[in-house]
Amino acid sequence: MTSLRSRVEVGATEARRYDLFMNLISLGYYPYLIKRVVDKMDIQPEQSILDLGSGTGRNDGFIAQKIGPEGSILGLDISKEMLNLSRRRCQPYPNVEFREQRIETPLSYQDEFDRVFISFVLHGFEDRQKIKIISNARQALKPGGIFCIFDYNEFDLGKLWFPLRQAFVRGECQLALEFLRLDLKGMLSNQGFTDFEEALFLKGHLRLLKATK
Ligand SMILES: C[S@@+](CC[C@H](N)C(=O)[O-])C[C@H]1O[C@@H](n2cnc3c(N)ncnc32)[C@H](O)[C@@H]1O
Repeated sequence: MTSLRSRVEVGATEARRYDLFMNLISLGYYPYLIKRVVDKMDIQPEQSILDLGSGTGRNDGFIAQKIGPEGSILGLDISKEMLNLSRRRCQPYPNVEFREQRIETPLSYQDEFDRVFISFVLHGFEDRQKIKIISNARQALKPGGIFCIFDYNEFDLGKLWFPLRQAFVRGECQLALEFLRLDLKGMLSNQGFTDFEEALFLKGHLRLLKATK
């Protein structure tokens, strides 16, 4: 799905530099931010977590500490380099597994997970693909399970401080720009999710949106 509209698929070099890049553009804040996001996901020991587009596995390292040895994490990604990095990073946790899987295609998981997490992935898909990913998440969740989406919040790009706006427009793909205007709660409601809760970060420009099955 690599196109000018999306940059969510990454090459091997980009994958290897991903964590460093995120650290640099956030001036070192990114690991702390992710830790705060994971704290807000209300993850309990022994829970099972599905991570869609798991990347380098950095988020899963934090989640692994919450679920303890009796919980489990399954991370799905399509980048072989990302999968290598995440497997290496989460080697200390035998209950964390990563599989090569395209997340917008039908998944075989049914009522299995307490949480489905997707972090900085959803904005890179066309709406019809977002709907497939949301539907996959719902099917994979146990009844009462929570879908946790960490991504850009809805905001008016025109009101962003000019240098930041320029950085966003130059650095992000067309789909990310469109995501800022997307009624994500409406899309989730149409797929049967309810009870929305949100936590905002970086002056409201980033959002953890939680939706219940
Ligand atoms: C921007 S990174 C985010 C990684 C991680 N979730 C994080 O927050 O650090 C996007 C990730 O989505 C993965 N990805 C892109 N398209 C995908 C697809 N169709 N199915 C599964 N993973 C995908 C990429 O390989 C990459 O690891």
